Amino acid sequence: MKILVATEKAFAPAAIKLIREVTDAAGHQLALLENYKDVSELLAAVADADAMIVRSDLVTAQVLDAAKKLRIVVRAGAGYDNLDLPACTAHKVVAMNTPGQNSNAVAELAFEMMLYQARGGFSGKSGSELRGKTLGLHAFGNVGKYMAEIAKGFGMDVYAFDPFVTEDVMKKSGVKVCKSVDELYSACQYVSLHMPANDKTKKSINYELLKKMPKEAVLVNTARKEVIDEEGLLKIFGERPDFRYLSDVEPDCKAVFEEKYKGKFIFTAKKMGAQTEEANINAGVAAARQIVDYFKTGNEKFKLNK
Ligand code: 3PG
Repeated sequence: MKILVATEKAFAPAAIKLIREVTDAAGHQLALLENYKDVSELLAAVADADAMIVRSDLVTAQVLDAAKKLRIVVRAGAGYDNLDLPACTAHKVVAMNTPGQNSNAVAELAFEMMLYQARGGFSGKSGSELRGKTLGLHAFGNVGKYMAEIAKGFGMDVYAFDPFVTEDVMKKSGVKVCKSVDELYSACQYVSLHMPANDKTKKSINYELLKKMPKEAVLVNTARKEVIDEEGLLKIFGERPDFRYLSDVEPDCKAVFEEKYKGKFIFTAKKMGAQTEEANINAGVAAARQIVDYFKTGNEKFKLNK
């Protein structure tokens, strides 16, 4: 079988080496399309692939139309808002993700941004500490759990809200359970977002919610830019000089921030939460193993388009 790794943002070389070991051992052929610039390159590369590994690459009906032999696509990562699942089903392509494999890297980036901001971007000016501050985890999945673990080490007071996770699970991680999203935002100086982008969550982080945050509020977004209502975000920045926004990937309204709010935001130029060698190895190898296993035994454990 031909397994294509199609990544507009390439994996670390060490990850590719290990992915190749998995596919070679199973007798499959590995093809690479890395750092491609145009979708036409993806359309050409996928034409004879039986399986495909992607990251945030868009797997659209157009890509699936071009992939005449494709049987399985694995998103090496957690969020699968880049996969058109109904189109996968219509094309009889099994779609999977690899939940949990890159979560620690994302949690570490959230803290890196928080620390950098708290120390004024290493400017030499007096900053602040994380110890004793309140941290709210909006959604408590794999990244949320790592966040709670790291926050404990920093001596933060951690709260969480997640309607899909039981109180028991949250309490085991030592976080205070909030019954509503309003309670979380009212209690926490830092709020870190860890929900997927879907019809329910898009633009759900809005002005009404943000205005509940206490003084020196810091919103940390390593989830997706789409979950933010940017109009509401700009409104709160217009009203509150104490507000900060740290985001792994630039918002659409970046130009306004650059013009008006210098020093009050951090935006990564390219989504880099999962951009570590370890996360690339974990997610890439898991994806390769899931494909090998699917071809060998039909295992559909991580199938998304059920
Ligand atoms: C994920 O959903 O797993 C992360 O956002 C990582 O995305 P990336 O593989 O494009 O870096």
